[in-house]
This record gives sequence, C-alpha cells and structure tokens, in this order.
Amino acid sequence: MKIIRSVDELRAYCNSERAAGHSIGLVPTMGALHDGHLSLVTKARGDNDIVVVSVFVNPTQFNNPEDLRTYPRTEEADCRLLESARVDAVFVPAVEEIYPEPDIRVFDLGPVAEVMEGKMRPGHFNGVAQIVSKLFAMVMPDRAYFGEKDFQQIAVIRRMVELERFQIEIVSCPICRESDGLALSSRNVRLTPQGREAAPSIHRVLSESIGYARDHSVKETANYVIDRINGTEGLETEYYMIVDGYTCQPIEDWDETDYPVGCVTVYAGDVRLIDNIKYQN
Ligand code: PAF
Repeated sequence: MKIIRSVDELRAYCNSERAAGHSIGLVPTMGALHDGHLSLVTKARGDNDIVVVSVFVNPTQFNNPEDLRTYPRTEEADCRLLESARVDAVFVPAVEEIYPEPDIRVFDLGPVAEVMEGKMRPGHFNGVAQIVSKLFAMVMPDRAYFGEKDFQQIAVIRRMVELERFQIEIVSCPICRESDGLALSSRNVRLTPQGREAAPSIHRVLSESIGYARDHSVKETANYVIDRINGTEGLETEYYMIVDGYTCQPIEDWDETDYPVGCVTVYAGDVRLIDNIKYQN
C-alpha cells in the first residue's frame, strides 16, 4: 500500500492508474477507522480496480474547536487496517498541504444543508463540501463511498457534485452497528462506561418507533422517540426530525414522501451521537 502525503504525488498516482485504464474508488475518511469504514473499503474494493482512502481530520468542517482538538487521531493503526483491507493507496496529508491558503469558497448547498446538522452546526456542511470537492478534484475517482450514518451529509455531497458537475457516482453504504445496535462511530471511543451503556437505547427506540409509526402521526412518532430517548438516563436528544429522505426537508404527513427517514442527534454526556432510521411507507 502506498502512503501518499502530497497532493502532487496523489495526482500523479491517480493519473497513471487512470491512464492504465483502471477505475478508481475513493473512500474519504477522517481516520480513527472502524468496521464501518472497512465496509466502505470492501464495497469500493468490489466495484473498482484501485481503492484510494483519504485520512484527514478536516478543520473547516468543525464548528467547535474542542471537538476538533479531541477528535481521535490514530494514523498508524489506520494504515495497518487499510493495508490488511487491501487498499492500494492511502492519502494522509498535513493541513497545510490541503489548505496552503484559507479556502474561502462558499457553496450554494440550498435547503438540504439548512436543516438538522446544517442548522445545529453552522458552516459544517460548507467545510465538508470544501474538503470533499478538493479530494474529488485531486483523485477524480469513478465512485466515492459514504456511510449512511451521516445521512444528511450524503444528500449534501450529492448536491455539491451536481453544483460542481463532477462525474462521480456517489455510493451510499448501510450503517454498521455494534451487536447491541449502537451505530459505529469514531466518537464512540470517547463515551464513558455509563454513556456506552445508555447509547444502544438510541437504535432500540428508533427501531421500536417503526411499529409505533404504523398507527400514529409523524408528530406523535417524533415525540415518542424524543420522550423515550430522553427517558434513558444519560441521554439527551438534541433533535429528532422525520424528513423526506430525498430532500432532507421535514415532513408533517407520512403521505408526503415514499422515503421517510428519522434523523436523531443525541448527547451522551459531552459526546454527540447521530443515527437514523428508515420508515416504510
Ligand atoms: O464523514 C466524514 O468522515 C467526513 O465528513 C468526510 C466525508 C471524510 C469529510 O471530511
């Protein structure tokens, strides 16, 4: 596995693979890799000749300096994992390599980026669009892989791809979970033992709400989820929104979409966890 630290080397490597007729799959990550990331790599491995993974904690998408400071960084372990997952190249740039000067681009991401995470974390999605568009321009992959835990992020990236006219297929991959249902996240390592014990309630309540939703309104279902999660000691919901999965806009009636998705953010102590569930309609 090649370990690449410079943009020039990354471009040269990808250009030569493309010239050899090889398709390229890109898996953008912020490191602290877990089985969720590896499932993206496995999918990319099956779909492409070459798999490139980027490991970069992108400062422009953090609206909270403390979150950026404490974000886990485990480069050596990440590289070992990626090598055993048969990744061809890992791109591990320094911040100055990606941002030799401040990125002042503002993307017109529209309504999809204005709700939920976009509202709670001002600037976050613009930062995601900045880094992902840079990586796309450097690698020019055929396909790029993202996990559905960050459900809204995928919709935002699709919008950015449309705006920038990238010819890249965005592949969304199912959430990976611990055996007790907790969605895998790099932030899980920061949970206290009490937080870790409480956190599986998030997925349990979301799953139970599918049955509840069958004979209750959108609003009643949202309240059901919020009340039950908040009723678990150590958990506090920041928001729960049931949205049209295509547009991420909130719905009031189940009939408004054939793709209703509930998205939740929960604090377990000071660790912010996100998850989501698809309702049948
Ligand atoms: O989902 C993530 O880990 C990040 O937001 C991404 C897509 C790698 C951009 O920094």
